[in-house]
Amino acid sequence: MAFIPRSFITTPIFYVNAKPHIGHLYTVILGDAAHRWSVITGAKNPVYACGTDEHGAKVYRVAREMGMSPEMFCRRATAKFQHMLAAANINNDKFICTTSPAHQQTVYQLWDRLEQNGFIYRGSYEGWYSVNDEAFYSSDDVTTNDAGVKVSVETNNPVEWTIEDNYKFRLSNMEERLLQWASQPDAIIPKMSREMVLSWINQGLKDLSISRPSSRVPWGIPTPHNTNQTVYVWFDALCNYLTVAKQPFTNQLSSSLWPHVVHLVGKDILRFHAVYWPAFLMAADLAPPKRVVSHAHWTVGKVKMSKSLGNVVDPITILDQYGVDAVRYFFLKDGRLEDDSDFTENRITSLLNTELADNLGNMLNRVTGVKVNPSQTYPPFHIDLFPLNATSSPQCRAGSEDYELLNTMNNLTDEVSKLYNDFKFGMAITKIMECVQQGNAFLQRHQPWVLIKQPEEQPWLDTVLHTALECVRLCCVLLYPIVPQSMTEVRHRLGLLTDITTQDLQCRLNRTFINPGSEHIPGASTKLNSCSKLLFKKFDI
Ligand code: MSP
Repeated sequence: MAFIPRSFITTPIFYVNAKPHIGHLYTVILGDAAHRWSVITGAKNPVYACGTDEHGAKVYRVAREMGMSPEMFCRRATAKFQHMLAAANINNDKFICTTSPAHQQTVYQLWDRLEQNGFIYRGSYEGWYSVNDEAFYSSDDVTTNDAGVKVSVETNNPVEWTIEDNYKFRLSNMEERLLQWASQPDAIIPKMSREMVLSWINQGLKDLSISRPSSRVPWGIPTPHNTNQTVYVWFDALCNYLTVAKQPFTNQLSSSLWPHVVHLVGKDILRFHAVYWPAFLMAADLAPPKRVVSHAHWTVGKVKMSKSLGNVVDPITILDQYGVDAVRYFFLKDGRLEDDSDFTENRITSLLNTELADNLGNMLNRVTGVKVNPSQTYPPFHIDLFPLNATSSPQCRAGSEDYELLNTMNNLTDEVSKLYNDFKFGMAITKIMECVQQGNAFLQRHQPWVLIKQPEEQPWLDTVLHTALECVRLCCVLLYPIVPQSMTEVRHRLGLLTDITTQDLQCRLNRTFINPGSEHIPGASTKLNSCSKLLFKKFDI
């Protein structure tokens, strides 16, 4: 199994001028699953960071419209994102707001370093500027809409021709180093995103303006030594990753976090993270990110979400309605890095009903039910009845399909591990659920509910139950990053410690069968706990 020694995962920090939506929810769930995976695979001091992007002209404008100070507006808006994280059972270690004093210090440190290294100069900039997008566009990227208004092709937001004095960053000097970094296969995933970044660099990079006149953007960090300019909101926002990587008190970057950082980003902000950000870092003699993971977007009923269409889905509403794990399972099963996915409530319920309740829930109930398992233990495994090698015991009761199940269980952790490490959560879930299906078919073949009626079959019944329990235990460990709350309950039901360790990741069936004293890997006498409620309740459609 690939071992990740260090792990520092970040999500983008969210603009506070809009309310949380399912795009934000997806990003934090994806990061949470990756982080929980690194925790159970034994990463050293893993850290997961989320936060909010609180500066900029848009936030200032919205706060004014609502008759609030920008500070007060940010506190309230940030609280909504924190509420979403709690409701989605996100286990983030850090939450950063760009208005924090520690963050301002980081911005100044990076700026000063770039200035010392000769990467910042005074210049002017003119172009099509969108207040909504806080971005300049080239003439090729704007068009005139039906109402005769100039708008950005990409976002449809109005643009105005603007000329400004500002500070610029010598991005054009960084092409070669960026190419070198982005050419590594792991630096940017998926491959199509890496190819896009390489083509942007190969087309040539222009210097980037990194400040705005404070008369236009008063809500932000003033540039060091000149309060007439405000640090460009993206320069400010990207620095959040350094702020969270700093050690408290010493103000130094923690070597266990930097450069081990993995940035999760939506496809619309890839350029900022995979061109500008590594360029700033390398120009300041800091290591670029270990990896940038770009994901596709969610549509609703196959249409892009937008306020004007009124199809923005509120995360809290769906989490309340379907339960946190059904929602997490749906997003991780259907979300992809390459292609957009579609959000429908029917799909949430159908996955919950068929995969979690019918497949996994059913298997759990079958092997823990009092009728087939009256002693409520992990019964002993009789190796002569199910030997490692089918031909090695004349008493062997297992057939070729049973050996296929064993084979699947033995390979599952490695396969899932590879997929999780590549952020292919949907494919990993499919693999795990296929193993559960094989487990259910195993029970169907050997019918413990019939064996229990035949006392002479007790050793074989025990072996069948032990094998099936081990299958549930293993799948439950591997599904923990996806649906942590339910899998914690399943572990409790199985009489295991809630904390998962790396030894839990191994299938033990063809290794050691009896493990006295270990509550992580059950042995022959491990007692099951009772369970008062149904773990996977089907949802009526
Ligand atoms: N503030 C910047 C990020 C700065 S990071 C240094 C920002 N914020 S955002 O709130 O607009 O977007 C945050 C994340 O949500 C982005 O990764 C974006 O791609 C993602 N999503 C926004 N809409 C989305 C969907 N419809 N589907 C999936 N993710 C989407 O950009």
